Amino acid sequence: MADDATTALRDYLQRHESKSLLRFITCGSVDDGKSTLLGRLLYDAKRLFDDQLDALARDSKRYGTQGGELDFALLVDGLDAEIEQGITIDVAYRFFGTDRRSFIVADCPGHEQYTRNMATGASTADLAVVLVDARKGLLTQTRRHTYICSLLGIRQVLLAVNKMDLVDFAQERFEQIASAYRELAGQLGIEQVACVPVSALHGDNVSARSQRMPWYAGPAVLEWLESVELAPPPSGEGLRLPVQWVNRPDQGFRGYAGTIVAGSVRPGDAVLALPTGRRSQVARIVSADGDLPRADAGQAVVLTLADEIDVSRGDVIASALQPAPVADQFACHLLWMGDQPLLPNRSYWLKIGARSAAAQVTAIKYKVDVNTQAQLAATRLALNEVAYCNLSLDQPIAFEPYARNRALGGFILIDRQSNATVACGTIDFALRRSTNVHWQHIDIDKQARAQIKGQRPACLWFTGLSGAGKSTLANLVERRLHALGYHTYLLDGDNIRHGLNRDLGFTDEDRVENIRRVAETARLMTDAGLIVLVAFISPFRSERRMARDLFEAGEFAEVFVDTPLEVCEQRDVKGLYARARAGQIRNFTGIDSAYEAPESPEFHLRTQDMPPDAQAQLIVDSLLQRME
Ligand code: ADX
Repeated sequence: MADDATTALRDYLQRHESKSLLRFITCGSVDDGKSTLLGRLLYDAKRLFDDQLDALARDSKRYGTQGGELDFALLVDGLDAEIEQGITIDVAYRFFGTDRRSFIVADCPGHEQYTRNMATGASTADLAVVLVDARKGLLTQTRRHTYICSLLGIRQVLLAVNKMDLVDFAQERFEQIASAYRELAGQLGIEQVACVPVSALHGDNVSARSQRMPWYAGPAVLEWLESVELAPPPSGEGLRLPVQWVNRPDQGFRGYAGTIVAGSVRPGDAVLALPTGRRSQVARIVSADGDLPRADAGQAVVLTLADEIDVSRGDVIASALQPAPVADQFACHLLWMGDQPLLPNRSYWLKIGARSAAAQVTAIKYKVDVNTQAQLAATRLALNEVAYCNLSLDQPIAFEPYARNRALGGFILIDRQSNATVACGTIDFALRRSTNVHWQHIDIDKQARAQIKGQRPACLWFTGLSGAGKSTLANLVERRLHALGYHTYLLDGDNIRHGLNRDLGFTDEDRVENIRRVAETARLMTDAGLIVLVAFISPFRSERRMARDLFEAGEFAEVFVDTPLEVCEQRDVKGLYARARAGQIRNFTGIDSAYEAPESPEFHLRTQDMPPDAQAQLIVDSLLQRME
């Protein structure tokens, strides 16, 4: 089916090359009549191609990179990374045309839980058609969708006030809704709004002007879509080519493939590979039709360079005269689409262009009430919430503010456990600190510090329920190591919470931050050459994974102190379980706060099976083996 669709689409594009192409998105609430309006538009226009292109969209990566014949990015290049992720995108792309223009419309479901699909559609659209029911006027969903459209760079909207037949074609009602919507759009920086009274069911003002609303002098929906002026593609921009893959069929050829997202390129142009900043010149522009003298934004090409510089997938090849900025901390807008809340300082996986990086929201500046535009304080974000945040990456990347370039300023976040896409976001600007703070070189390094102590640094991470025996075990291990002359330090949850982490409680947010701080501390201590023992409940897989990622391979070992909840509760050394059961302590691990057991810890200690001494010895033995 994809092959048929490919052929049909290619024919279509060839035939209609000379006409302009308009991409738009339709949005509105569930019963506003979106499908009816769209059905009518497709019916009235000369419908040339009406296939559900979502399957095709999912295939586009494969086709786009292998054959390179058809630029599928033309259809769905917005949240490209999401497509690569292989997530089902519930957006139907429909393709139709008139004598004057070709259209690609992203038809997005109106239910609240589908905001994700709406965002996907909006990220590729030039403009939006927003529907409202004339009887109901603006709803929360209208406001939310309009907000998301504006967030994703849409500056032109057609408001279709539908079901005019059910309000007796009343001009007053129409004007009321139109003026309320204009006010909303104004607040959101949407520059152009056209309001059209329609009855999709009966065809009034859909493709031809209706006789039944003589008071309306403007264009019908299709007329407006055919004639609306689109912002011209920016000119004079520097080349931006995110490298999708490095093509190296043999020793003699090394090509960098991708779609140009801004500017143009000619052989001989001086370029930089970002973020490294390595410099070279374009040697050839290779395409399926032979070498090209020039290529422009929107074209998929393979570049070869004059020098053998190191360029990898995810790098951006940019004009050396107008290079893209590089940074690792940003102010950004975020639309949260995860079922689990966003927790600041949790590590997510970010994809931007062809680049991936680990990313943390370091601060939620405010979240936005989409009904009132009010800015509200927040410590976490729930499904469908929008916020202004600071974001920090584990590596610098080449980027552009989203307002300048969607491909290099739009990103998605992926949950590292479930692999689900949990947010989409737009970069506003780089934080100054990300370019003003540099690594200071220090002569004495970890190895030198460790050598003088005659040991190899390590981090033993004890996790388990409260009362499982983490502290007891860690204490035994440290005593043995100490007796053998090793340099150690034990970071214990209860103790650290008396000092460094005194400001933190037991909400999910605070536990994430608790672990982030102790993991960073443990890393510093291994850098000092020590063997560090960490005994924290550390209930979440995400944060234990984050901790692990801070260390070198082989340096970190997770020790699961596995004692069943009933046993911990029976022992109840500190009397906390009894109080938690009595409702006197909230968010108690194992009672009303989750403990996510490790999936593949280096040590899995079932405390009931073996006395603590023997278990401690097991860990020490294995550590000593590593020292040899
Ligand atoms: S963690 O979940 O953030 O890693 P941490 O190890 O620092 O927890 O602290 C756990 C200790 O705090 C427990 O051993 C217990 O003594 C005490 N405590 C107090 N309230 C709670 C609670 N709600 N949940 C778990 N432990 C608590």
